[in-house]
Amino acid sequence: MKPSLEDTLLAAIRTIPDYPKPGILFRDITTLLSDARAFRRAIDELVHPYAGQKVDKIAGIEARGFILGGAVAHQLSAGFVPIRKKGKLPYETVRIAYSLEYGLDEMEMHRDGVSPGEKVILIDDLIATGGTAAAAVQLLRQIGADIIAACFVIDLPDLGGREKLEGLGVPVNADRV
Ligand code: PRP
Ligand code: ADE
Repeated sequence: MKPSLEDTLLAAIRTIPDYPKPGILFRDITTLLSDARAFRRAIDELVHPYAGQKVDKIAGIEARGFILGGAVAHQLSAGFVPIRKKGKLPYETVRIAYSLEYGLDEMEMHRDGVSPGEKVILIDDLIATGGTAAAAVQLLRQIGADIIAACFVIDLPDLGGREKLEGLGVPVNADRV
């Protein structure tokens, strides 16, 4: 019997205790990315709900959201917009500070990365506290994006990220791990 999607993905993700700080259980997706079957299933799962729908842009969050988001954009024939850690983008940007499970940071995107009214799907590997994704939602809305959904391979449900995004009116697609 074909293993379930959740079993395939779970088996392909490596968990590292106390990285990058004591007490954090780090979910390492590099093992999933290097497993051709698991990588394909993860991308198929992200793409499936939106196949045939009009999607203008995929917004991917640095760094792991770039790898997944690029593949999803290709599959949906959408453009790709990078949301980057501060100081990496060359043109005019919008910027926001945020907190995540193990720290504080700032992210930015190009002002013209999305045109007002464009339909956008936000992609990252994982949602934990939701601080990163909620900040990305604020940036996208600041430049007029119509966010269809936020999609992740992994949701760490105890940390409340899904509820945070849903509270902002953004539907979430992710497997709870
Ligand atoms: C990780 C992950 C998400 C974020 C989730 O990124 O890829 O972007 O943390 O955490 P949150 O839901 O608590 O906000 P990280 O900032 O470690 O960046 P990286 O992908 O560049 O390693
Ligand atoms: N980002 C935030 N929390 C994380 C975790 N536990 N594993 C991997 N990436 C994360």
